[in-house]
Amino acid sequence: MKRGEFLRSLGLSTSTLMAFYCLGTTMTACGSKDDDPNPDPDPNPGGGGGSGITGTTTGTAINFTVDMANSNNTKLKTNGGFIITGDVLVAKTTAGSYIALSKICTHEGNPVAYRSGSNDIFCQTHGSTFSIAGAVTNGPAATPLKTYTVTVSADGNTLTVKA
Ligand code: FES
Repeated sequence: MKRGEFLRSLGLSTSTLMAFYCLGTTMTACGSKDDDPNPDPDPNPGGGGGSGITGTTTGTAINFTVDMANSNNTKLKTNGGFIITGDVLVAKTTAGSYIALSKICTHEGNPVAYRSGSNDIFCQTHGSTFSIAGAVTNGPAATPLKTYTVTVSADGNTLTVKA
């Protein structure tokens, strides 16, 4: 049981808990490292620092990798999740496949988003919608979104997105 859970199980108020947390911090700072039987867990689990994105994410020569172990990219492990990096929207569809498209709406250039409920791309500015293949399904946009290829590494830990 973690410290917070234990204190909450005692029925203590939030302000009392904060006092305990502060006291705990002070005590930890004063004691030797060997005194703490429950050292704090890794504050950045699955991290590795940075965004987990390496390469070119803007312009015409899109070519980058996504580190799936990086905590910034955990949404891509869940069907229906997506991230936006640079000019590109990367999503894991409700069917579990990866797609990547320009995030720049072809109407007036505002950012689009993936909608898991309808498995499509939506621009909230004026309501344009696009299929996951980039085709316009509802205006005012009239031009498809640019799409990119997504390749999953054999171990599933890295996505490569290319123009
Ligand atoms: S900018 Fe996207 S619909 Fe107008």
